[in-house]
Amino acid sequence: MSTGTGRRFPDGFLWGSATASYQIEGAAKEGGRGPSIWDTFSRTPGKTLNGDTGDVADDHYHRWQEDLGHIADLGLGAYRFSTAWPRVQPGGRGPANREGLDFYSRLVDGLLERGVAPVLTLYHWDLPQDLEDAGGWATRDTAYRFADYAEIMARELGDRVDLWTTLNEPWCSAYLGYASGAHAPGRAEPAAALAAVHHLNLAHGLGLQAVRSVLPSARASVTLNLHVIRPVDPSSEADLDAARRVDALANRAFTGPLLNGAYPADLLADTAHVTDWSFVHDGDTAIANQPLDVLGVNYYSTGLVRRWDGSGPRSEDDGHDDALGSPWVGADDIEFVRPEGPYTAMGWNIDPSGLTELLLRVHREHPGLPMMITENGAAYADTVSPDGAVHDPLRIDYIARHLEATGQAIDQGADVRGYFAWSLLDNFEWSFGFERRFGLIRVDYDTLERTWKDSAHWYQGVVARNGLEG
Ligand code: FCB
Repeated sequence: MSTGTGRRFPDGFLWGSATASYQIEGAAKEGGRGPSIWDTFSRTPGKTLNGDTGDVADDHYHRWQEDLGHIADLGLGAYRFSTAWPRVQPGGRGPANREGLDFYSRLVDGLLERGVAPVLTLYHWDLPQDLEDAGGWATRDTAYRFADYAEIMARELGDRVDLWTTLNEPWCSAYLGYASGAHAPGRAEPAAALAAVHHLNLAHGLGLQAVRSVLPSARASVTLNLHVIRPVDPSSEADLDAARRVDALANRAFTGPLLNGAYPADLLADTAHVTDWSFVHDGDTAIANQPLDVLGVNYYSTGLVRRWDGSGPRSEDDGHDDALGSPWVGADDIEFVRPEGPYTAMGWNIDPSGLTELLLRVHREHPGLPMMITENGAAYADTVSPDGAVHDPLRIDYIARHLEATGQAIDQGADVRGYFAWSLLDNFEWSFGFERRFGLIRVDYDTLERTWKDSAHWYQGVVARNGLEG
């Protein structure tokens, strides 16, 4: 175990934990909430492990005050959560639902009363079903509807929100939702997935414009799951080219428009056989390229790729269920090889060096852009000991190693302002349902009782000393 390097973090480093609305709230049919694509998807037989849905989840909608108590007891400086669009606009358009707004308004006030900065994500995957019925993210209009919703939230919550985040991991929304079908809405249409990439980038820009039209000095961010992609054979041209192509789809499809104001030419060329990208209109990428106060980085593991020679079955070990197809649009001659272990219960490899590498890359390519790690953590098959405790040394080790890796990036110049452990609570892990537990706090899904795992006690200490023990 390397939990005790003695590493300390810069003064003012923000310590937090993260959740997302559909994963914790439950109360799917209460408070005037409309259905989201995740309600539809999870209720469709065969789409989630054990048929789990977010109908009840952690029942956070009713237990939010207890959960705020845990956040305060952990000593967190910030809490990252998302607002459910279908609670605010049940059909994704039109007037706001007062009950939904009140819920988030009380939550934000409750955080502020406890001295915790609210870090709000507007979209963590729960698209109103009515908007999907009208075409979802493959349709341009959805980006404009998102801007309306963003403006409603900005008017309601105003300057009480410390940091506004437009989207969480648009990579997942676009490619898992529209190409592989592993996530809601479960479509397997490669061209639609690339249209979704663009409309999410556009939604980010329009959404931030809308927030800033109401709150000119709002602090703003977007959270990306930037991928660390390595070639199997770094001396092979073919493998290097495979890594470049995957990097374009995974990373530069987002950082291009969002941070540089343009799609990379190689991405457009690599996918020309799938789409002509005519859904990108003049001026769109300038809209997507809004000034950001901080970039949210989610990091869990790395990817290993090579050119597939066409013989034998193609290895698709990218850490995701393939469901109906591959998320890697237009990359049928590339294979993902399982990286070296150890692995978490997700089957994801543990490699903190990837986090250092990633933070330094962003620092190099976008100097002056502060970063926060908005998600990092590990699923393990936790058990409750006879004494009622949950001993999860592997989770502690995982987080400690990634904190040390973050510190090493900071030492080398990366401007990292905070760290949010995923997740505060065990919750609905998307297509894996309740089977995969990421929480610092255990949730008993029969009684909904919350129990601090050892990792919660340990993280409380990290937060208090602003660093690792030792
Ligand atoms: C990320 C998601 C988050 C959670 C973790 C494990 O991709 O943003 O909701 O599911 O993975």
